[in-house]
Amino acid sequence: MLTERVKEIYQEIEQFEVATKEQLEQYRQRFVGRKGAVEALFEGLKDIPKEARRAVGQELNALKNFATDRFTAIQAEFESNDGGNAGPAIDLTLPVASNQLGSIHPLTLARAKIIEIFERMGFSVADGPEIESDWYNFTALNFPENHPAREMQDTFFVAKNAEDPTQDMLLRTHTSNVQIRMMERQKPPIRAIMPGRVYRNEAISARAHCFFHQVEGLYIDKNVSFKDLKDTLYHFSKEMFDKDVKIRLRPSFFPFTEPSAEIDIWLGTDTEETYRLSKGTGWVEIAGSGMVDPNVLANCGIDPEEYTGFAFGMGVERIAQLRYGVRDLRLYSENDVRFLRQFEGV
Ligand code: PHE
Repeated sequence: MLTERVKEIYQEIEQFEVATKEQLEQYRQRFVGRKGAVEALFEGLKDIPKEARRAVGQELNALKNFATDRFTAIQAEFESNDGGNAGPAIDLTLPVASNQLGSIHPLTLARAKIIEIFERMGFSVADGPEIESDWYNFTALNFPENHPAREMQDTFFVAKNAEDPTQDMLLRTHTSNVQIRMMERQKPPIRAIMPGRVYRNEAISARAHCFFHQVEGLYIDKNVSFKDLKDTLYHFSKEMFDKDVKIRLRPSFFPFTEPSAEIDIWLGTDTEETYRLSKGTGWVEIAGSGMVDPNVLANCGIDPEEYTGFAFGMGVERIAQLRYGVRDLRLYSENDVRFLRQFEGV
């Protein structure tokens, strides 16, 4: 009779589903607690004949252990993974640990915008070396050896070549070297921009640095005129500064363009900032430009009687300064996060 009841309780224990903390509590009351089914069987022990009592007692103890062991095992499991029932194991109400994203460098932003505008006008993007020979940086661009025009660009020389000075190695002083490399490789029509870093041996200040960035532009085809140059740069300026800016072309000199012009844009002198930037004139220079000199075309094997073209070179730092109000050139390369973070989300 009693033995049968024991068997039943074993089965009940095994079949009792414990998936939640409430169910675990129900299990405890039913099988482990003082008023539970197992304890009730001990009550009946006194009615058992003395001879059998010991054996039955052992049976009951085994059952009690069985019930308790299952209880502690399940309880331990709930404690280790929180039972899946006391709410999620992570506290969703806690503030999130902020995930620090970087920001895009203002020069990268400006360059990307410049490229985007010229790509829409059909310009492709080309690249060239920063360590360059005298030939590509100067001589092929119609700077004769010892010509004073070389002095405009104070140059870092890397290695002299005693036999052939056009093979002296230097850090390029402008991106115009890529013009020559393009014209050697590719016959007209050529319509490309060439972004990159350039180097000059300048004392570092708020307004000058020993390296900076340019975007060169080159357009060579039949019947390319000065008007095309002006239209292209006017369109560019409007797109770059999101408004109908005024531009002017100011006569200038470069050995590799004829005629040559500086491109200025109108800022006005209304604010202290624009007054300072334009040195009181209202105008600020953004690029050098001109019609590619026939000698340069000939140096690259392009017939100057058949083709004409224009070129320009603009300063990326200057464009970024005008777009983002950066006052000191040195900020661009100091990697100060207080500066860089200001461009988050731009
Ligand atoms: N390379 C010139 C400079 O760095 C700019 C320029 C490029 C001028 C192309 C004319 C044409 O000053």
